[in-house]
Amino acid sequence: MNESLLESLPVGLRELARQHLPDKPVHIPTPEERDERERELSRRLTKQMETQKAMVYLDKSLWPAGIPISFTFGDWKPNKQPDQERARAIGNQAWTIAKEATKNGAFNVALLGSPGTGKTSLALAIADKLKQDKSWSWMFVSTTELKSLVEAQFDAYDVKSKLANVKRAMTEVNVLILDDFGTEGGLVSRINEPGYKGAHAKLQQLMYEVANARYNKQDKMTIITTNNTTQELERIYDPKIISRLVTQNKAHRIAFNGMSDVRAMEG
Ligand SMILES: Nc1ncnc2c1ncn2[C@@H]1O[C@H](COP(=O)(O)OP(=O)(O)O)[C@@H](O)[C@H]1O
Ligand SMILES: [Mg+2]
Repeated sequence: MNESLLESLPVGLRELARQHLPDKPVHIPTPEERDERERELSRRLTKQMETQKAMVYLDKSLWPAGIPISFTFGDWKPNKQPDQERARAIGNQAWTIAKEATKNGAFNVALLGSPGTGKTSLALAIADKLKQDKSWSWMFVSTTELKSLVEAQFDAYDVKSKLANVKRAMTEVNVLILDDFGTEGGLVSRINEPGYKGAHAKLQQLMYEVANARYNKQDKMTIITTNNTTQELERIYDPKIISRLVTQNKAHRIAFNGMSDVRAMEG
């Protein structure tokens, strides 16, 4: 409270003024301060909306047996592998990929190798890091579950609408993990038989539309985990689909050969 202002008041009013006027002079915001406050509010609202939108995509995920998995880079333990050096190098490659996408924009990633070696785990770690560093939305699609959904769609209306929602999310989401891509093609021995017809036509159509919508977009990253070779994948799907989804860039292909089955070792 301004003392000289108090002094100027009649004695009888001074005490009243001391009790009722604020200690500090009332601050009327300048137009610049008001603009800044509005910008801050709008930033907060945008962030809230992004978070909600991200939740909508994640919610459309198709998890193996319906059970969500979470894994971050902090969970990656090279000492789970007999070849720790190689396991550390693989973890570092995945980390570098996430950093590169944060800096330069999206590209496709492929994690290749046998079951239990950590492909799904590192795919999840990359998605988690991009969510943290870039506020990118992400979702997880088990191709086995997607195949079941596609094959069930003729039976029920709710399956049809669920599939439509999943497909839309798959085209729009920033980071799409296509897990165990290729298992929907069946046994390798069958894939290589002459006359093998490939994946269900409806599944091919869906993958084609998703692949096309995401192809070469700065904010669309498709991460594939697979234990099939590119040749096998090209027998399961039209090669046009494979070329749009499975990168041939060595820096973006993480090869898990030399890694052991952690699941089997832990029993
Ligand atoms: N280096 C690692 N550090 C910690 N956990 C690991 C590691 N490698 C594999 N795992 C664990 O082993 C199991 C199998 O890994 P997963 O990522 O599902 O393998 P894949 O997708 O290759 O079949 C998971 O429970 C996973 O969390
Ligand atoms: Mg897996």
